[in-house]
Amino acid sequence: MQLIKETDYGTPASKIEAEVSLTIDGFEVTVPAGTSVMRAAMELGVKVPKLCATDSLEAFGSCRMCLVEIEGRNGTPASCTTPVTPGMSVKTQTPLLRTLRKGVMELYISDHPLDCLTCAANGDCELQDTAGEVGLREVRYGYEGDNHLCAEADESNPYFTFDPSKCIACSRCVRACDEVQGTFALTIQGRGFGSKVAAGMDEPFFESECVSCGACVQACPTATLTEKTVIEVGQPEHSLITTCAYCGVGCSFKAEMRGEDVVRMVPYKDGKANRGHSCVKGRFAFGYASHRERILNPMIRDKITDPWREVSWDEAIAYTAGQFKRIQRDYGKDAVGAITSSRCTNEETFLVQKLVRAGFGNNNVDTCARVCHSPTGYGLKTTFGTSAGTQDFDSVEHTDVMLLIGANPTDGHPVFASRMKKRLRQGAKLIVIDPRRTDIVRSPHIEAAHHLPLTPGTNVAVLTAMAHVIVTEGLADEAFIRERCDLDAYAAWATFVAEPRYSPEETEALTGVPSAELRAAARLYATGGNGAIYYGLGVTEHSQGTTTVMAIANLAMVTGNLGREGVGVNPLRGQNNVQGACDMGSFPHEFVGYRHVSDDATRELFEDLWGVKLEREPGLRIPNMLDAAQDGSFRALYVQGEDILQSDPDTHHVAAGLAAMDCVVVQDLFLNETANYAHVFLPGSTFLEKDGTFTNAERRIQRVRKVMAPKNGYGDWEITQLLSNALGYPMAYSHPSQIMDEIAATTPSFSGVSYPTLDRLGSVQWPCNAAAPEGTPVMHLDSFARGKGLFVLTDYIATEERTGSRFPLLLTTGRVLSQYNVGAQTRRTANVAWHQEDLLEIHPFDAETRGLKDGDWIKLASRAGETSLRCQITDRVAPGVVYTTFHHPSTQANVITTDFSDWATNCPEYKVTAVQISSSNGPTDWQEAYEAQALQSRRIAPAAE
Ligand code: SF4
Ligand code: SF4
Ligand code: SF4
Ligand code: FES
Repeated sequence: MQLIKETDYGTPASKIEAEVSLTIDGFEVTVPAGTSVMRAAMELGVKVPKLCATDSLEAFGSCRMCLVEIEGRNGTPASCTTPVTPGMSVKTQTPLLRTLRKGVMELYISDHPLDCLTCAANGDCELQDTAGEVGLREVRYGYEGDNHLCAEADESNPYFTFDPSKCIACSRCVRACDEVQGTFALTIQGRGFGSKVAAGMDEPFFESECVSCGACVQACPTATLTEKTVIEVGQPEHSLITTCAYCGVGCSFKAEMRGEDVVRMVPYKDGKANRGHSCVKGRFAFGYASHRERILNPMIRDKITDPWREVSWDEAIAYTAGQFKRIQRDYGKDAVGAITSSRCTNEETFLVQKLVRAGFGNNNVDTCARVCHSPTGYGLKTTFGTSAGTQDFDSVEHTDVMLLIGANPTDGHPVFASRMKKRLRQGAKLIVIDPRRTDIVRSPHIEAAHHLPLTPGTNVAVLTAMAHVIVTEGLADEAFIRERCDLDAYAAWATFVAEPRYSPEETEALTGVPSAELRAAARLYATGGNGAIYYGLGVTEHSQGTTTVMAIANLAMVTGNLGREGVGVNPLRGQNNVQGACDMGSFPHEFVGYRHVSDDATRELFEDLWGVKLEREPGLRIPNMLDAAQDGSFRALYVQGEDILQSDPDTHHVAAGLAAMDCVVVQDLFLNETANYAHVFLPGSTFLEKDGTFTNAERRIQRVRKVMAPKNGYGDWEITQLLSNALGYPMAYSHPSQIMDEIAATTPSFSGVSYPTLDRLGSVQWPCNAAAPEGTPVMHLDSFARGKGLFVLTDYIATEERTGSRFPLLLTTGRVLSQYNVGAQTRRTANVAWHQEDLLEIHPFDAETRGLKDGDWIKLASRAGETSLRCQITDRVAPGVVYTTFHHPSTQANVITTDFSDWATNCPEYKVTAVQISSSNGPTDWQEAYEAQALQSRRIAPAAE
């Protein structure tokens, strides 16, 4: 294995189609017009020395290292800023160029520490390499003059250092922060010799606006910006390409290793989801994999009040299988079930649902996607015929108007947010529909054309009012509708949305959105060119989640914004493999590929292959499993990689259901909150320790590669297989690729997917089959998957969760950049430096009427329960609305959320809870009792002598 090094062409590829031929050092080369001379040379394999240029950034032309001679031109132009012209004849190596470059390099080195042997970047330093390339042998100016060698290093960032003594003021870091990340946290201060890089207002990195994405570190050609892990461990010696295990963007990384130690995760330039960029989580927050709290041995206990007892894998598996068999014998085969994980691989998820359907003999399998994007599946399948987003991320480069609803991409999907921001800086327009003023509404060089701060729970009313404007003002794309959509359904829908009760003026009092602003936003989306809708959990996690998804689909159809680049309906998926978990048959009513369990042909296909009779009736969803547990009819649960106690709504209900079961099996990295109610703990493996695939929000299937042996002994797929074999249903896979082969053999949309194909292409977006052997970046090109697009009536039905005198405020929830989901991983990394606790955001008006000051402890109560946390006073939220995150178990924000859920899918209504807030002295009695019980529950008995 080797260290993977992508070629740096010096400047970005030109997108111009016309071609230009020229000669460089006597060799002819043909490149797209607009290509730089530097890049054209590199295409030929001729490397022109460079320092300020790199192909992820626009050319800057400051270092004067890349000079060339061009026949017929005076002087020595910089090859990075000089575009090719037809017939141009370039020389990259002449005596004059050699002298000039050497002279420039001498100047750089005269102000650079000569500590190469002890420098962390030794062997990975472009300054060192370039000094070699230009043949530097001496520095005639000596080292005694003015210099920066004593400049002090800034160690404030937990993950990287900034040592200005090594800085060559090339500005790559500043440009990376501006052009790639879009945060504009860095500047070059001063002029000439006094030029220096400054973060924020010349403050430590940690205190500046820096979001620790790592783009500047990656761009830096010297050791000025260096990962602390490289300083501690040394340079990596081999690497493998893998996929981030945090969010649904699915960034591709090089896991750079020394032996079995991860030295650093470097975003992979050829990754089609991230194009070489990253965020703080994927880039730096991998330390949880070796955190001391990770459980590496299986454990069992008879009662949840007992301490855990470490046992061998054989004993744990035999015990679990024995319990499941006993329960099925005594209470029937439907008394057991499983929950798959959106954090695990496709192959692992497929195996868990196979274990349930073939091994347990029922369909009691569900997934955490139930609580996030199940309405997306239902809504898009109904309207378009496929349960997935329509585009790839690259599509945003062709978008003119972005309609962002119920999503906060700069925190939740940061790498895609950077791409959105880049497009917005190029002139695209932005409409944000969100109760909060999220960062993207106004950030450096970006301002949303319209922010519609709607009252939580009124998405359907707002979107239907937008449709009203489009239909009644004659802005519908009649040609698209005539050709692509079901006309009867359209006629009924158009009549429905045109009703006066759906006008912006009529709905204004309900939604809180000024009618003129809503009309202007609707007109912009309908007439502003390519319109793309991006949405998140602020759409789905409502009692009308599915209706909102269908309202979004209606808007895209009525404006003809489907079936080409730059448009479409794009769900931003939360967890890394939510799309995959849904695709793999994790829902109780569907096999892999969204085929209903009542479909005889599909069932027969799997019955023949798996050699068992399969159930034709759907099984239990998660909330139904918990209800049935309290009834006594559901008694054992296998939970792989989810923490339903912390992530599911109405914590008391979840706890009561789990407590009522005879055998709860948790397979995870840490003793999570659900494990407090478990009888068996099976230690899970991290994404670094196994092979497999994840599917991101674009339907992109990407490889996860094993970079180290599982510390717990097994990959998660192997544990499921052990359990299945012990239960008497044999499985004999020797590698996850065989599981993918089975998926491909049984699933039309995956029939072209295999590990060799993924290795060859890097990734593919499903459908991938004979009709689309390299995958499908944009769906529904000429017709919808269901044939004609279906408009669906979206009557607004207010949630039953209402404010009143007891609970006058509306709580909505979300996440922050540095933390992920229930925080099990990110809380065990240095990311806690940015977010140590969940806070409640409250508007100054609501704070004042309650006598609250910033940072005060408050009690947050709903009809479901109460908890305490500190408050943060901010006008990001409107009066009457409060907001918090759910990353910390000590807060237990889901004690507050109710059991209301989406009418079609049971997706919980996390985003709307009526609450009251009052002063508090600290955690509630309940929180303290819970903490005490959790501590009690996590006791591990000392090993026997
Ligand atoms: S880490 Fe990212 S946000 Fe911070 S300064 Fe560097 S590029 Fe900018
Ligand atoms: S910190 Fe690195 S990238 Fe930034 S100006 Fe200095 S040498 Fe260049
Ligand atoms: S954007 Fe998402 S996938 Fe990419 S590095 Fe961050 S957490 Fe990982
Ligand atoms: S690389 Fe061209 S001027 Fe710096």
